[in-house]
Amino acid sequence: MRAILVPYKDVDSARQGRREKSPWFKSLNGTWKIKRFEDVSQIPASAITGDAARWANISVPGNWTLAGLGDLPHYTNVQMPWEGKPPALPPTIATAVHRSTFTVSSAWMKRRTIVHIGGSESVHMVYVNGVFVGYGTDSRLPSEYDVSHVVQQGSNDVAIVVCRYSAQSHVEDQDQWWMAGLHREVFVRSQAIIAIEDVSVVAGVARSGGGTLSIDVKVSVPIIEKLQRGWMVVAQLETFDGKKVGAPRSSEVAWFDVPYVFEGHVARFRQWEVDDVDLWSAENPHRYRVILELVAPDDEVEEVVAVTTGFRSVSISGNQLLINGERVMIRGVNRHDHHPDKGKAVNVDDMRADLVLMKQHNVNAVRCSHYPNDSQFLDLCDELGLYVIDEANVESHAWNTSLCHDPCYRDTWMSRITRMVERDRNHVCIIAWSLGNEAGYGAVHDAAAQWIRSVDATRPIQYEGAVFHAGWESGGVAASDIVCPMYAPIDAIVEYGKKSAGKRPLILCEYSHAMGNSNGSLSDYWHAFETTPGLQGGFVWEWKDHGLTQKLANGKKRFAYGGQFGDTPNDGNFVADGLVHADLTPHPAMRELAWVHRPVWVTRGGTASQPVLVIRNRQWFSTLDHYVATWELIVDGAVSKSGTLKVPTVAADSRCTVSLPTVVPAKAREAFLTVRWALKSTTSWAPKGHVVAWDQVVLRSAKPTSVVTTKKASTPVSVSPRVTLWRAAVDNDGFKMMPQLWNGFGKSLERWLQQGIATDDADVVQSSTSQSERADGSVRFEHTVSLPKDLADVPRVGATFDVPARFTHVRYYGRGPHENYPDRNASAMVGVWESTPDELPYLVPQEFGLRTECRWMELIDKKTGDVLRIEADGCLLHMSATHHTARELFAANDRTELQRNRALTIHLDIAHRGLGTASCGPDTLERYLIPAGEYRFAYVVSQR
Ligand code: GAL
Repeated sequence: MRAILVPYKDVDSARQGRREKSPWFKSLNGTWKIKRFEDVSQIPASAITGDAARWANISVPGNWTLAGLGDLPHYTNVQMPWEGKPPALPPTIATAVHRSTFTVSSAWMKRRTIVHIGGSESVHMVYVNGVFVGYGTDSRLPSEYDVSHVVQQGSNDVAIVVCRYSAQSHVEDQDQWWMAGLHREVFVRSQAIIAIEDVSVVAGVARSGGGTLSIDVKVSVPIIEKLQRGWMVVAQLETFDGKKVGAPRSSEVAWFDVPYVFEGHVARFRQWEVDDVDLWSAENPHRYRVILELVAPDDEVEEVVAVTTGFRSVSISGNQLLINGERVMIRGVNRHDHHPDKGKAVNVDDMRADLVLMKQHNVNAVRCSHYPNDSQFLDLCDELGLYVIDEANVESHAWNTSLCHDPCYRDTWMSRITRMVERDRNHVCIIAWSLGNEAGYGAVHDAAAQWIRSVDATRPIQYEGAVFHAGWESGGVAASDIVCPMYAPIDAIVEYGKKSAGKRPLILCEYSHAMGNSNGSLSDYWHAFETTPGLQGGFVWEWKDHGLTQKLANGKKRFAYGGQFGDTPNDGNFVADGLVHADLTPHPAMRELAWVHRPVWVTRGGTASQPVLVIRNRQWFSTLDHYVATWELIVDGAVSKSGTLKVPTVAADSRCTVSLPTVVPAKAREAFLTVRWALKSTTSWAPKGHVVAWDQVVLRSAKPTSVVTTKKASTPVSVSPRVTLWRAAVDNDGFKMMPQLWNGFGKSLERWLQQGIATDDADVVQSSTSQSERADGSVRFEHTVSLPKDLADVPRVGATFDVPARFTHVRYYGRGPHENYPDRNASAMVGVWESTPDELPYLVPQEFGLRTECRWMELIDKKTGDVLRIEADGCLLHMSATHHTARELFAANDRTELQRNRALTIHLDIAHRGLGTASCGPDTLERYLIPAGEYRFAYVVSQR
C-alpha cells in the first residue's frame, strides 16, 4: 500500500491537483455492465470475456443491493447473517460480474498501467482482457493491480467479480447494513518505469514554534534495471495558495550495487526547519503543500507529485492528549459511510455535507467507525479542520474474543492495520490510529501497534478492546495510549479521572447512544469532562441513522431499517441510532450537541447585587474576535431589549468579565439574559451570522404564582383532561419491536408493561381531577396523583387532552425553541417561542415534542384568530402539542403507519422521566427519575 498520489507533468498542474487533468489518470467511475449470479461457482468463463451488451447497467461506485438485481441490504449488529465458525461461509454467495472498458494510449504503453479499486464489498477478483490479475480482500481500502503485462494499446476489457460474502466478512462484522458492490471509485493510472512510488511527509512543530519537515520519497525501479547515479528529488514547500516557503531542497535517490546491504531507492529530506509556520488545528486548518519533482540524471523532470500537509503535533503527556501542546477537548462523533439512496457509495459532496453539518454543530473530531474512509474524506478533514481517529477495518464482533487468536486470521489483522497507516499517514487531520473495533484483544494487536510505533512515531494509538479486556488502569498499554472505553457511566469515568495522574487520558470512543429520542445527560457528561482531570471528551454514537429509502406498495416512501427488506436474522431499528436522519435532517438532540460543544461560554459572575458576565473562550488557538456577540433581555415572557455585546479580545483558552449590557426593569418578576455568538464572516463551513454558541443567565428568578383572572372573558372551554403516567416508550426505555433484547437493555418498558402503566389512563394509581370555572370564564384544573413506592420510576406524571386541529400554531413561554427533556435541556433557553406542532423527528414512532419548564402555552387558530391558552398555576409544567397520541405512537413501527390526527394531543406534565441512553449505555441518571410520592399540579385553560 502507498499514499494516494497522482503524477503530473509539471509543477503547476500538480499544484492544482485536478487529477482528471493529469495525462496519467483515468477515472473509470460511471455506468458499468453488471450480471448477478446466485453463487460464485456459477460464473461461466463467458461472463468475463463474452458479450455484456445486454446486461443491466450499474453505477460505479455503487451497491448492487440497491439496484434491484435480486439481492437486498441485510442488517445485523453482532450476529453474522449466517451460522458457523469462521471461516464458515453461507450456503451460496451472491456474486456479480462488473464489466467496463478503458483505453490505453501509446504514451501509456511505455509505462506501467495500474488499476485502482477503492473498495468493494466483500472481496473481488480482477480480470483484464480475460486474464486474472489479482484478488482484493479489504472492503474499505484500495487494492491496486499492475496490469502492464496484459494491456494493449486501444481498448481494454476489465471485469471485476465481486462476492457479497467471504471468509473476510467475519472480520468486517460491523454494526451496519451488509451491502455488496464496488462502493468506492475505480480508476487506472499510468506510472513511469522509474517513478515516485510513495511519499511520507511528517510535518511537526519545533520547540521554537516553527515547523519541522521530514520527507521520504520512495522511487520504484524495476528489478531488472539498476538505477543510474544522479536521480534526484527536488522538494519545495509552499503555502496552500501557492506561495513558496523557503528555497527548494534536493536529495539524491539512494542507489547501491550490493543488494545485501541496500535499503531501497529512497530520497530523504531531514533536518528541514521552517520558521514562522501557521500551525494546523481543527480551529485553524492551515495547510501547506510539498511539491516533489523526480529529476533524471539528464535533468529532465520525469514527473511531479504534490502532497498536502500541515504542521501540528500530537503527544500524550501523562493524562493529557496534547495537540500543538494544548489539551484540546475532543468534541467528536462516530461516522459511518451512509447515504439513504446510495448506501455505502457516498461521493465527495456527500462527505462534505456530513462534515459541514458537523462543523456547524461545533464537532471538532470524527472517528472513522469502523474502517478507513475514502482518502478524499481525509482531504476534506484536512481542509475543513476536523481531528480524525482513523480506524482499521477489523471487527470480529460475533467471535469477539476468539478470532484475534486464530492464526488463519493473523495476516489479515496485520495487513488491514498496516495498510491503513501506509495509505493515510500524510494526512494532518489524523491524530490517532485505532486498531479496529470489537475484535477482542491479543498478541496480534500488540504486534500491529508496535509496527505502527516503528513506522509512525508521531501519533498515539488507541484500541477500545485493549482497555476493555485488560482494564483501564494499566491494561492493554501495548496497544492503547488512550483509555477509550465505550458507553461508560459518568461515575466510572469521573472515578478514573480522579486517580488518573500519571496514567493515560480517557476519551470515550463511543458515548451518548443517539437511538431515537435520546442523548439524555449529554450536558452531565460534558460537566464531567470539563471538571475532571484526565477526561478529555469523546465521540457520540453515532452521526447518522442508516435508514435506506424504500418505496412501499401504497406509494409511500420510508427510510427502512433492519428487517424491512425481509432480511433475517436482523437487529431491527438498532441501525437507526444517529444524531441526524439518513438525509441529514438533524434530530433535536443536535441542538444540545452544538451547545455542549460551544466554543464560548457565558455565565453569571460578580455578586448578587452586582452581577457581571463571565466569558470563557473554549478554543485553544483562536481569540473570540471572529464572532459578534448579541444579547436579548427576556422579561416576564417578552423580549424587552436587545443589543450587541462589547467584548474585549479574549485570548485562546482564557476568560474575561464584562458588565451587564442592561438593567432589569424594577417591575419585572423574572428576567433572563440570552447571549448569542455568531460568525462575523463566512467560513468554508457556515455563512456569516451562523450562531456558534449561546447561553442564558438568570438575572431575576421568581417562584411560580397563581394565574390571575383577566378582564377579557374566556369563551367556554371544552377540554377533558385525564391523568396519565405513560409516554410512548422511547428506544432507551426498551425496544418495542425486539423484546428478546430486553434482558440486556431497556428494562423499563418491560416493567411498565407488567405494571399496566402502558395505557393512556392511569388506573393503576390513585388520582383525582377537579375542575372549577373562574370569574373570567376560564377553567382551572387540578390533579393529584399519588405514586406508590412499587410504582416509582414511571415515564411521566401528567395530564393529557385533545384540542381541535384547527389550532395549527403553538406559542409557549418555556424552554425552547427545540424539543427538550429534563436531562436534555441545557441548550434550551427560556423564552417565548412560536411554531407549528413538531412533526415526529424519529424513524420509529415514540414520545417526542416536549418543552420543559413552561409557564404557559397558547394554541392558535390562524384563520379565526382564536387562542386557547393553558397556563400553569403555581408551578412549571413540561408541555407538548403533537398530532399523535401516545397510544398511536407506541402502536406504530414506522412513520408511514402514522396518520395525522384530526386533533392535537396536549400533554402537561408535572414530572417527566429523563431520556438517558439505555438503548446502549447507561440508563437515565437517578436525579431525572420520578420518585414515589404525591404529585399535585394545576393549570388554567381559557379561550379568547
Ligand atoms: C458499539 C459498537 C458500534 C455500535 C454501537 C451500538 O458496541 O462499536 O458499532 O454497534 O455499539 O449502536
